[in-house]
Amino acid sequence: MDKVVISLGGSIIIPDDRDGAFLNRFASLLRPLTEDLEIYVVCGGGKIARYYIVTGRELGAGEEQLDEMGIDVTRINARLLQLALGSAAYAKVPHTVEETASQGRKGKVAVMGGTTPGHTTDGVSAALAERVGASRIINATSVDGVYTSDPRKDPGSTKFERLTFQELEGMMHKGEHGAGRSHVFDPLGAEIVKRCRIPILVVDGRDLDEMRRAILGQRINGTVIDG
Ligand code: UTP
Repeated sequence: MDKVVISLGGSIIIPDDRDGAFLNRFASLLRPLTEDLEIYVVCGGGKIARYYIVTGRELGAGEEQLDEMGIDVTRINARLLQLALGSAAYAKVPHTVEETASQGRKGKVAVMGGTTPGHTTDGVSAALAERVGASRIINATSVDGVYTSDPRKDPGSTKFERLTFQELEGMMHKGEHGAGRSHVFDPLGAEIVKRCRIPILVVDGRDLDEMRRAILGQRINGTVIDG
């Protein structure tokens, strides 16, 4: 069976915009697709993770402790998606890629959050995709693709239809590092996909028509990172 890993950004799970209704609709999209696809979802931490990381940093926590708090939040978010999926999900959130990989089967969606400090759930998604031999990774974010600059700040910004793994890696070296810092895709993840040549489809995760196309491997409006 074809295997797909979805990196579901926290900004998609908990933007505080009818989140329960969205998760129900997302679960309704996924359930029937599990008949023909093995689906894995890795949930991000979003603004709640950022809150704990910023506040913990003010209180003098080290990067590893902050990462641990971020991971806790990703796992609570994973529980929300499991609730929405009901009997199509497992009752507990696995803590490792291996355990999650063993949960992939017809009729079920395997849902997890983060694993260990030092990377983000994008990195976890890439490791999981490599482990299960996924055909593609869907990076579901709050932006509808990868842009030349932040489209929310720069009106002249344009969207890439396609990027190579090499170009993705080039983008990694810009920007800051540390707990809670955001990239297009995290450096660990970028290194894994480049090695395994697993395409990444960057899409607006709240657009469920686009999500369906990405999951099914159809043509998307977002950005394809491959070759
Ligand atoms: P996210 O995966 O949500 O990170 O994990 P992010 O890229 O910063 O968030 P978005 O995608 O922009 O919303 C939240 C934080 O949890 C820690 C990191 O500190 C990360 O920034 N984390 C997460 C880990 O240390 N390890 C993991 O496996 C996952």
